[in-house]
Amino acid sequence: MTILGIETSCDETGIGLLKNGKIPVNLIATQEEIHSGYGGIVPELASRAHLERIDELFTKALERGGIKPADIDYIGVTNHPGLKGSLMVGVSFACALAYALDIPVYKVNHLYSHLAANFMDPGVEFPALGLVISGGHTTFFYIENPVEFRVMGKTLDDACGETFDKAGRILGLGFPGGPHIEKAAAEGDEKKIKFPVALLDAEHCLDFSFSGLKTAVLYHVRKHGLKNIPDICAGFQKAAGDTLVEKTGRCMERYKVKSFLLGGGVTRNRYIRERFRRLLDGKGVKLFMPDAKLCLDNGAMIAAMTYFLVKYGVKPSSKKIEVIPTQ
Ligand code: KG4
Ligand code: ZN
Repeated sequence: MTILGIETSCDETGIGLLKNGKIPVNLIATQEEIHSGYGGIVPELASRAHLERIDELFTKALERGGIKPADIDYIGVTNHPGLKGSLMVGVSFACALAYALDIPVYKVNHLYSHLAANFMDPGVEFPALGLVISGGHTTFFYIENPVEFRVMGKTLDDACGETFDKAGRILGLGFPGGPHIEKAAAEGDEKKIKFPVALLDAEHCLDFSFSGLKTAVLYHVRKHGLKNIPDICAGFQKAAGDTLVEKTGRCMERYKVKSFLLGGGVTRNRYIRERFRRLLDGKGVKLFMPDAKLCLDNGAMIAAMTYFLVKYGVKPSSKKIEVIPTQ
């Protein structure tokens, strides 16, 4: 079975192939250089860039995978959540292709797909808990099986990755802030500057709030200037890590599961990965984190999610060009 996965929800154009349970091709055209000058993603520029690149990326993916369009059995494309214009490019491309090849198309949830990046590992057992930590979301899911997801908690304001990006901007480190902060933090002392960890009240026990952390960085810089950036980054990263693992510990006490899955761009962060390894050590719950390239937005994770929709007998989507920008 060959599945083509298409991702254009935000600022990466991704085309991935899943062939007989393996991922032979996962091409990503990032737009970092387009948006970096603006300190954030400009939706109109993002959708234009997807449009300019998707065709070539598709051709290259088929070449690399050694297949022809007629060899594709199913197409998966994300249609939510994301930027409307960007989603529209991927969905239009996918539906037109599915129509021309007369094959089924699945419109899939972008967040589920971040976690599905782990599903190709045969060790994953269900039920599982999943946490998506990305630029747009920080969301806990209870995953009954690969196609049944239930939201258990989410951020009430900024997403975790968004806070990394905003803090990076305050510190003049460039966009996206996450990788810059991780690099600088490696040279710093996490105990020197203490930033707040928002645990929220009982009603929001499994929700997150990250906007206070970014504001604390702003106030620190206003008071002390841009001195000791590595220590600021290390303290910031520790506070983000403390919040994520504390909430995850609570979630795992409440819901008994066999596996814990991470996904989304922030999962690339080695410090955060290590904090989760330590948290789950000896707990009897298996931890899964995608390889670095599968953490960011990519087409292979969409193909993986699609594979399970097919396997579990979920009906294909309509070929109508429609997207759901928010969730
Ligand atoms: O999952 P993703 O590619 O896109 C969304 O769906 O949002 O995540 C992008 C986010 C950005 O906020 C970026 O700063 C963050 O992932 N990120 C990181 C790292 N690499 C990317 N955050 C912390 N440390 C990193 N190494
Ligand atoms: Zn994403």
